[in-house]
Amino acid sequence: MSPSTTPTRTGGRLLGPVDVGPVAHGGHCVARLDPEPGQERGRVLFVRHTLPGERVLVRVTDDSHASFWRADAVEVVRPSPDRVEPTCPVAGPGLCGGCDFQHVDLDAQRRLKTAVVAEQLQRLADIDWRGEVVGVSTPETVDGLHWRTRMRYHVDDEGRAALRGHRSHELVVLPADGCPIADRRTPTVVGQRWPTGSELVTAAAPGQNALLLDGRVQQGSAELTEQAAGRSWTVAADGFWQVHPAAAATLVAAVLEGLEPRQGERAFDLYCGVGLFAGALADAGCEVWGLELGHRAILTARQNLGDVSERVHLRADRVERGLARLPRRADLVVLDPPRSGAGKQVMAALLDRHPRAVAYVACDPAALARDLGTAARLGYAAVDIRGFDLFPMTQHVECVAILAPQGPN
Ligand SMILES: C[S@@+](CC[C@H](N)C(=O)[O-])C[C@H]1O[C@@H](n2cnc3c(N)ncnc32)[C@H](O)[C@@H]1O
Repeated sequence: MSPSTTPTRTGGRLLGPVDVGPVAHGGHCVARLDPEPGQERGRVLFVRHTLPGERVLVRVTDDSHASFWRADAVEVVRPSPDRVEPTCPVAGPGLCGGCDFQHVDLDAQRRLKTAVVAEQLQRLADIDWRGEVVGVSTPETVDGLHWRTRMRYHVDDEGRAALRGHRSHELVVLPADGCPIADRRTPTVVGQRWPTGSELVTAAAPGQNALLLDGRVQQGSAELTEQAAGRSWTVAADGFWQVHPAAAATLVAAVLEGLEPRQGERAFDLYCGVGLFAGALADAGCEVWGLELGHRAILTARQNLGDVSERVHLRADRVERGLARLPRRADLVVLDPPRSGAGKQVMAALLDRHPRAVAYVACDPAALARDLGTAARLGYAAVDIRGFDLFPMTQHVECVAILAPQGPN
């Protein structure tokens, strides 16, 4: 197996050694080149495959920005004590873009994520966060591997299953044992030839799995049954479901602990997918309104919550548009937007309902911090923010923030 490498836009200039500074949002660390003659400060480098405190030689991967360049650490002159040998043979400079932190000890990964969340909250929301990103695992995933219950692969020119490089369309062929963060229960895609240019989706749920080739089922079934929060959930094998096997239960517990829903309260579940939080709120006795862009997801959510349909109202619509058609008052709101976050307009429209508490489930701490900044200007403060490492080996992190009105509401 010889993975293809990602070509650099710069021809891959080698620079350094440089001293590596703090971790930054996006899976890289910040370093600075020595100033050139006439410059007061050296150029900022965002360096991947390194750790704070290391001294490394770098290869520039992108010099198209005036204020910073991107680079990969290609040789470590002074390693961090947190550096480990990656499990995956295609994790590294110019190779697979799926994992950012395979070279980092698992506890240290969580410290890096804690630093990123704290920095984003401080800089974008003026919040002094003292929490930490905690590990979440099942017996099969304690080492931070084999947790992805959903995988999407591309097929290269030779019919081999591959993943994309970092910020690149280049394909990197999977190692012989497959992707080491994929759940072991997902069907294997290595060792066989697939139609060139096609897409493979694999998924696993308790006792079931599925393999789809360009949307057509090859193995298993088009729908899987997940178990979480005391319910069974039908989910399309290629639809959205929280990807770590412990994620759904962890996030529902954090939302319920934060909101403390009461019988008869009115609640919104925005970006509701197949109804995970709507179901938990309905089971706690709330009347729930849910909005979700995907028609198929809403149909599945209605099926999932058929037993509580008298108090769950689900609509397929964009949150930006659909909120106007929801009740003018809400006691509780859960929002779980995509990486881009909710944005000012949605934050304003939901806080205008004067909820007594809001649970913001976020997969991007930058978008979360920006939206918490908006909430603060509209009179809502984050009273609790928790971080969960639901994406080990990658830079990604999940947060749950609980907001409450500041002063009289
Ligand atoms: C992070 S997922 C959360 C799903 C659900 N809360 C769960 O935990 O299973 C975000 C969901 O938002 C939906 N979505 C994305 N943009 C949207 C928008 N503008 N309006 C409504 N839903 C949207 C996606 O289809 C996806 O199902």
